[in-house]
Amino acid sequence: MSENQWTNVDDYFVGLFLPADRALEEAQDRSAAAELPAIAVAPNQGKLLQLLATVQGARRILEVGTLGGYSTIWFARALPEDGHLVTLELEPRHAAVARENLDGAGFGDGGGIRVGTAASPLQALIDERTEPFDFIFIDANKDGYPKYLELSLKLSRPGTVIVADNVVRGGEVVNASSSAELVQGVRRFLEMAAANDRIEGTAIQTVGSKGYDGFALLVVTA
Ligand code: SAH
Ligand code: DHB
Ligand code: MG
Repeated sequence: MSENQWTNVDDYFVGLFLPADRALEEAQDRSAAAELPAIAVAPNQGKLLQLLATVQGARRILEVGTLGGYSTIWFARALPEDGHLVTLELEPRHAAVARENLDGAGFGDGGGIRVGTAASPLQALIDERTEPFDFIFIDANKDGYPKYLELSLKLSRPGTVIVADNVVRGGEVVNASSSAELVQGVRRFLEMAAANDRIEGTAIQTVGSKGYDGFALLVVTA
């Protein structure tokens, strides 16, 4: 079983379920031209995120880790006209590309892109007593995941869905003695989620055009 085969299957699914989409293709092209790392979610994963937000009826979505706004466009499309999207990004250069990409997709004034290290804008949202979010996507620096979970819970209501990307990392997640910050960050995140009696959760491994990885799906229950 090879990565090539996983990619072929992803291509097949994309051919079936994802018609050509100029805004998303331009977003990928603009991101590549700006030399952003090619670590956005895959197209069929982006659509999964959109569908999850849609079935949940999300009106307020929070994303931690914008990059070029590729996943952000999928989320923006899940929102009703009066929906609200906040996406947090550390690198001003990434945020600038994301603004162009969101503009190009017709969401120029919709999403608030807040630039800064994610913990401080999350704390700012808490301090502002912003309304709870319906859906939260955690996809920034992996060593920050435990902190992002703790702060996300303060921005949640019963029923809020939290999805975290990249919780498998080629299987490294089971390597308890790994010295990699990202493995330790993800493990602490998963252990915190599992131990929290306000959370029902699971985690799923995935293969595809983005390699072997996975995501966690959490629901805040109280
Ligand atoms: N969600 C995007 C991919 C995000 S990649 C998509 O699927 O299209 C991770 C992003 O998190 C990068 O752009 C990186 O700059 C950003 N990031 C890293 N550390 C961060 C931090 N402390 N706060 C906010 N963003 C951060
Ligand atoms: C990588 C992939 C991601 O989806 C991400 O958010 C960060 C890094 C990677 O493959 O390195
Ligand atoms: Mg990711």
